[in-house]
Amino acid sequence: MSTFKTLDDIGDVNGKVALVRVDFNVPMKDGLVTDDTRIRTAMPTILELAEKGAKVLILAHFGRPKGERVPTMSLSLVVNEVAKVLGKEVMFVPEIAGDVVKQAVGILRAGDIALLENTRFWKGEEKNDPELAAAVAANGDLYVNDAFSAAHRAHVSTEGLAKVLPAYAGRSMQAELEALEKALGKPEKPVAAVVGGAKVSSKLDVLKHLVTQVDHLIIGGGMANTFLAAKGVNVGKSLCEHDLTGTADDIMANADASGCTVHLPYEVVVSKEFAANPPSLRTCNVHEVAEDEMILDVGPLAVEALGDVLKTCRTLVWNGPLGAFETVPFDAATVALAKTAAALSHEGSLISVAGGGDTVAALNHAGVSQDFSYISTAGGAFLEWMEGKELPGVAALSA
Ligand code: 3PG
Repeated sequence: MSTFKTLDDIGDVNGKVALVRVDFNVPMKDGLVTDDTRIRTAMPTILELAEKGAKVLILAHFGRPKGERVPTMSLSLVVNEVAKVLGKEVMFVPEIAGDVVKQAVGILRAGDIALLENTRFWKGEEKNDPELAAAVAANGDLYVNDAFSAAHRAHVSTEGLAKVLPAYAGRSMQAELEALEKALGKPEKPVAAVVGGAKVSSKLDVLKHLVTQVDHLIIGGGMANTFLAAKGVNVGKSLCEHDLTGTADDIMANADASGCTVHLPYEVVVSKEFAANPPSLRTCNVHEVAEDEMILDVGPLAVEALGDVLKTCRTLVWNGPLGAFETVPFDAATVALAKTAAALSHEGSLISVAGGGDTVAALNHAGVSQDFSYISTAGGAFLEWMEGKELPGVAALSA
């Protein structure tokens, strides 16, 4: 990982204007924020800068308004929640550049905080327009990026500003980059990766990259069926991308050539219908799936064997559930393997990093999140990192 500056390098910011990019793309229902995790994630950086006497101007996107002012995507809807979480007054400014922001800066005292409008209301944001970057930068002295989960976007607020102002990683960006470096940058070996989820097609690049990086690749979820089919297993009416069996074959061949062992379930939980606790539920060897059955989870003995694999490893990267975990009892394999990983992490023998929307939900459901070494709340950015891609928002901080 290339080096980047953090808040430790920032020097005296008393009275200076810090433009701080955070991810406040939070879920809302009936006008209320239903999960404030992302606001809490940005809190240490905002408060640290405020305590150091900076005037903090928060920049964030909210939804995908595509360059228009969409009232339901105004950050004015989120400002009260931000103030509540921060425990401080937060001024709302309905612009991101120009005189209105300049006047706000004039009113703010050292240590005060303002939230600017949704950056995506301006067309230049997603085009990474240098003119917009210059206009936003004109009201700031320095730029802090604390939005890893938006770092896969090369936008003005995630990338462009880093080119025109002194740029620093915020505390959550720093924690994220340090954890990811430990997991795939310079990991302690052996390294295992768990990749699950419904479709191979959504994670092809992840799988292709991982087989060259890790010692053990554990494939679960619907995507395992495509790999099983590639090996000639009859997967019945399971979710399976039959047109991708050739690609699955190539991935397995690359794994072989790179010394990566691919683990597919040899025992599975099947049912004739997809419903909670269905009457036709049974566990069988992967070669005994009937034509009218579908694979919905990894079987308990196979999960135990996967746990034994983790016991031989020092590092684990996890993305995606092993089964249809939102429906009981198809959460069993994900919960069991997550518990093993959590116990190994807790006793210090495993560094475990997990990320991605479903994954966080699955680990919360297993009740083990606090024992993982690091859980990333990033969705798309985490996946692109797992693909081995350079994230523009991170690259700009390292330049
Ligand atoms: C997210 O919710 O994953 C981030 O905020 C990025 O949002 P985007 O996919 O609209 O860029």
